[in-house]
Amino acid sequence: MKITPSDITKDYIGKEITVYGIVLHIRDLGKKKFILLTDGRKILQAVYEGEEKIKRGDSLKVRGILVEDQRAPNGVELRAKEITKLSEVKEEIFDQWSLRKMHKDKKIKYRPLILRLPEYMKIFETYAKVVDLLREYAKKQGLLEIFTPKVVRMGTESGSQVFSILYFDKDAYLAQSNQLYKQMLMASGIKGAFEVGSYYRAEASFTPRHLTEFRCFDVELNYIEDYNEIMDFLEDMIKYVLKKLGIKVERDFPRLTFEEAKKILEEKYKIKIKEDLTTEAEKALGQYAKEEYNADFIFITEFPYEARPFYTMKKEDNPKYTYSFDLLYKGLEIVSGAKREHRYEILVKQIREKGINPERLKWYLEAFKHGIPPHGGFGLGIDRFVKQILDLPDIRDVVLFPRDPDTLEP
Ligand code: 4AD
Ligand code: MG
Repeated sequence: MKITPSDITKDYIGKEITVYGIVLHIRDLGKKKFILLTDGRKILQAVYEGEEKIKRGDSLKVRGILVEDQRAPNGVELRAKEITKLSEVKEEIFDQWSLRKMHKDKKIKYRPLILRLPEYMKIFETYAKVVDLLREYAKKQGLLEIFTPKVVRMGTESGSQVFSILYFDKDAYLAQSNQLYKQMLMASGIKGAFEVGSYYRAEASFTPRHLTEFRCFDVELNYIEDYNEIMDFLEDMIKYVLKKLGIKVERDFPRLTFEEAKKILEEKYKIKIKEDLTTEAEKALGQYAKEEYNADFIFITEFPYEARPFYTMKKEDNPKYTYSFDLLYKGLEIVSGAKREHRYEILVKQIREKGINPERLKWYLEAFKHGIPPHGGFGLGIDRFVKQILDLPDIRDVVLFPRDPDTLEP
């Protein structure tokens, strides 16, 4: 592999090396040129005495000796002996300072340029690390990583719109969730499974929390007796990830039922909610968790059946409510989950109750007809999770090429 600026360590000091990178900045003092080379992840300063015209954006191969120099970024400098231009810039539009000051919409338009700045690339490095750690945790628990179709016959998540596509001569949709597939796998008797996938929702709302294409870390656990087991798994997983990222989680996540939360919202915050949490309610509950428990996370449990999809199990003692939960992180929903209804007759009844013709779900119901253990799981919105970890204002900040109602390019 080629050496790029992020590979540079003190071990190279005094040695002749060849480094590859893009010119982020150049200071031309006539004969002497100071070049900041980047690979998006780190910057290396190279000094060169030569005649060639070098411009911002050129890709270079630089052979030279690495020396210690406290005036240079990261305390080292490459004294170049030879520079080869591998590719030449066509348009030299922005310098690093104007890139840094750019409006956020332009930062999406000029994504490839922005990625030359290591402070932006750090976001995507954290994103990748978070996914690695989620996977690592799930695998350690013995779950199988699965891959399910994203072109599907029908939508699954009530309330959120679907994108329809033409699949040859049939109508099809882009998957809103892997929900039905991860559940069907439970019919194998497997202990549990997880998936990292992209999902699509035609939500025309333009908010800092919504994308039309987002990524989810889905988990489904088999042999669930009490829905608290699902929350225990999720809580432990999040603590594992944050600990590995060097973020302290001081306490266990408080768990409030929807009705308890509703009461607190009314009495303490004068916020009235109906069957579901609103953005305003989530924010207030985030504040409540911080003030009351010094917690960044809070579980809201037992949502009304009206607000949850047909596959959610109703509470045994009060069927108006369900064995479901949302996890809020710093006042934003990052996860929804539940115990699922696994009893065939009841499931068919619930499908009808939600106004869906069970015929359309025959392929799904098959798994239940032939027996499936009690199970449950959750979907964690990865983009939202990373946004909250890094305290960024907008979900678009953590997505390389975000999709929202206005953005289809780049
Ligand atoms: O809450 P949702 O809709 O739940 C499901 O999809 C269920 N099938 C999960 C389950 O296993 N019961 O979506 C899960 C998470 C949300 O909590 C949120 O973090 C994220 O996915 N999410 C979105 N993120 C960005 N933009 C959107 N439009 C999102 N919609 C959902
Ligand atoms: Mg939800």
